[in-house]
Amino acid sequence: MSRDAYVNGRYVPHGRASVHVEDRAYQFADGVYEVVAIQGGRIVDEEPHLDRLDHSLKELRIAWPMTRPALRLVMRELVRRNGVADGSLYLQISRGVAPRDHAFPKSSPRPALVMTTRQARKPNAALLEKGAAVITIPDIRWERCDIKSVSLLPNILGKQKAVEAGAHEAWQVAADGTVTEGTSTNAWIVNDRNELVTRKADRAILSGITRLAVMKIAGESQIKLVERPFTVEEATKAREAFLTSTTSSVLPVTSIDGHKIGGGKPGPIALRLRELYLGYMAAPPKDTA
Ligand code: PDD
Repeated sequence: MSRDAYVNGRYVPHGRASVHVEDRAYQFADGVYEVVAIQGGRIVDEEPHLDRLDHSLKELRIAWPMTRPALRLVMRELVRRNGVADGSLYLQISRGVAPRDHAFPKSSPRPALVMTTRQARKPNAALLEKGAAVITIPDIRWERCDIKSVSLLPNILGKQKAVEAGAHEAWQVAADGTVTEGTSTNAWIVNDRNELVTRKADRAILSGITRLAVMKIAGESQIKLVERPFTVEEATKAREAFLTSTTSSVLPVTSIDGHKIGGGKPGPIALRLRELYLGYMAAPPKDTA
């Protein structure tokens, strides 16, 4: 089926969608993005994603390219046009197009907005059954990982390292030995008191929208949550481990640097949270239904 992309005010065939060579995201990675899940044709957690987008834009002093209600309309229209029932929507906003100069352009160009959609890939049954293997790598990123910037070089190098090691994800480790997060996922463990442990969303990690939903779901299910950093050593000895993201939902982790976690099998708490999260995705929230 043909699909459209949205580029600066126009819906254009995906294959012909393009931006200007002097778009500042292209030259400087001077832009931000969001990846949102689509389930049953509906955008999941739309408002938390727009809140995080607002945070990223404000921190970089990039203006909204249109009002929030207008952006919502464009997102929904693209999903409708492309007939996406289950999949994801990518949206990116850059500071705009201007002659190359590191400082912000004086003329304040119009921020550039692009959007694409993708149908969901088939869930990887083997990965779900076996759980994901994770390696650890030094976190070489900057001190503002709370901003969802398109500047992702450390993340892609880390993910490539994982792929080349036959793993699914790389958990990044700060200088103090604590795990910050995956290259495109948040990191969690379950300790020997069956408590969930995940890092507080400060500037060292992205405040994942899936992370927020899972925290809420855990609370409703009387699963205790502790927001604090954990070390690689603690993770390798944990009862369970898992990761969360819009595209992976809740994915059990069964090995870290080759050490088996939970006897090498997906843990019951991770599996339960996965089920609950998938149910949450499928049920429209009461306020926006
Ligand atoms: N990645 N941490 C990082 C560094 C991420 O890039 C992401 C999301 C997450 C999880 O956030 P969320 O639950 O809101 O998806 C954590 C997206 C999916 C990506 O870059 O494709």
